[in-house]
Amino acid sequence: MHALSAVIRSNQLQPHAELFALLERYRCSSFQKPIARHSRVAFEKAEQLVHECKRPLILDSGCGVGASTVQLAREFPGHFVLGIDKSAARLARHHAYREAAVSNYALVRADLIDFWRLAAQYEWQVERHYLLYPNPWPKKNALKKRFHGHPVFWDLIKLGKYFELRSNWEIYALEFESAFFHCSGTHGVLEKLTPMLPVTPFERKYQRSGHELFRVRILNSSITI
Ligand SMILES: C[S@@+](CC[C@H](N)C(=O)[O-])C[C@H]1O[C@@H](n2cnc3c(N)ncnc32)[C@H](O)[C@@H]1O
Repeated sequence: MHALSAVIRSNQLQPHAELFALLERYRCSSFQKPIARHSRVAFEKAEQLVHECKRPLILDSGCGVGASTVQLAREFPGHFVLGIDKSAARLARHHAYREAAVSNYALVRADLIDFWRLAAQYEWQVERHYLLYPNPWPKKNALKKRFHGHPVFWDLIKLGKYFELRSNWEIYALEFESAFFHCSGTHGVLEKLTPMLPVTPFERKYQRSGHELFRVRILNSSITI
């Protein structure tokens, strides 16, 4: 038997009223937290891989066990897919998802907050960027822990011509889309999702548990690749 997952309950019932003010504060200040040494080492390794493969780049940020990274690599054989996650335990379970015929990808262990800052600094040209089921941090006072409520969001929006976010919490998806519009002037499309074949373990778990799933797709008009 697989464990079911409880539907998200939150004391926040609509997009956070402070979101845009917070993003404006970040726009006017620089994020000072030093980049951890291990993040820089991971980034340098990734930078070398990306440079050597000379293919258009796809990021799978928060890839967990890397199941979606393999699927994306299979779906886009002419691209190079980089899966990034901070959890060594999840990345160590990747062997169960490997496919012998798919090799145009790599997984790196890094903190996305550092990794995205470095990737933006080095002006990475990212064609497609996937954020599949990021931790929702649904308590109202946890807005700053959500990726779109963090100073790094200003860097994140530079890292993709196309973005796809999936979540089982509609408010996260609504906030992400409106934060993206606020910072870049580009709207996305939010829709309910009923995948025939789940692309990640969390998607499978949430679907099996009867959760509604949401997807935001954004074609970032401020980026030309
Ligand atoms: C809910 S899981 C989703 C994993 C996978 N995308 C899936 O759908 O199965 C969220 C993932 O994001 C990773 N994560 C959260 N914050 C992160 C950060 N700051 N840097 C890197 N990974 C992070 C976690 O380790 C975890 O694997």
